Amino acid sequence: MYKEKILNLLRLSRTAYFSGEELARKTGVSRTMVWKHIKSLERDGFGIEAMPSQGYRITFEPDILRQNDIKQGLKTKVVGREIHLFPETASTNTLAMEMASQGAAEGTVVIAELQTGGKGRLGRKWISPKGNLYLSVILRPNIPMHKAPIITLMGAVAVTSAIRNLCNVRVAIKWPNDILIANRKVSGLLTEMSAEQDRIRHLVLGIGVDVNMEQDSLPPDLRPLVTTLAAEAGTKINRTELLREILRQLDCWYRAFLNNTADVLREWEKLNMTVGSRIAVSGAGETLEGLAQGIDEEGRLIVLRDDGSTRHVAAGDVTIVKGKK
Ligand code: BTN
Repeated sequence: MYKEKILNLLRLSRTAYFSGEELARKTGVSRTMVWKHIKSLERDGFGIEAMPSQGYRITFEPDILRQNDIKQGLKTKVVGREIHLFPETASTNTLAMEMASQGAAEGTVVIAELQTGGKGRLGRKWISPKGNLYLSVILRPNIPMHKAPIITLMGAVAVTSAIRNLCNVRVAIKWPNDILIANRKVSGLLTEMSAEQDRIRHLVLGIGVDVNMEQDSLPPDLRPLVTTLAAEAGTKINRTELLREILRQLDCWYRAFLNNTADVLREWEKLNMTVGSRIAVSGAGETLEGLAQGIDEEGRLIVLRDDGSTRHVAAGDVTIVKGKK
């Protein structure tokens, strides 16, 4: 807590020096403790210049996520009530599922700087080096099970809106919940659920966003298919600000979802690039081609086939054959 107070004071100016005495007086700790906290900030990666007879100032801020920075000005009602931040974990989804089964509160968020066993949709891996965002949110909605897929669409709406609000890039959703920039994936969502009969015990919404990682941290075969926000925006992105905006958008859209799922579906349609395109959707051993007409009230993709019949697809991989006009 004192360390955070000292950091907040130092952040007030990048040019002025704060004397040890001033920092001690304003935070209510001894000068020796101020010095210890400064050393600890340096160990966290901060560059701090100590100028004899003048004091301290920050010369460099590391690109790390910090609990206090995330919470600053967050003001969410449900999402982010509790935040658990880890330097590394196998999968934030796995961890969040464990925490949920042990009773963690709705809105608890689990974040990691890197994942060693990140999970993607359809049993795939999610390569998770440092520099990106990996988070999972525990939710306990009182809804019938067939509405659960809309939660993932809701997540895609929230993440897309957050990216649009903060980064100067053209993101859109590809059904069901891939977030793309010019046909290259920049974010994905994976929902896992624990349920009994038709009741959801808890659900974990996992989000991965490729933000600042180096392209060569990916295997060569993935590189043409994946991009990062930094590469597209042409500048490094502040991950803390983006994370905070994602949590705010999730908080707002989750409450909208509980109130009226139709609002979420309507927003998803505004932000998506699939509807109106000619697509091929593969899954469950078959590939189906046709015109993506829309999504139904359960979030399934409605495909109009060339023979005039329609199919409602619940899961699969979409390839855009011809974009909408
Ligand atoms: C996809 O295949 O598009 C879904 C990717 C979901 C990745 C995120 S990263 C945070 C959370 N933890 C995981 O293991 N997976 C999700």
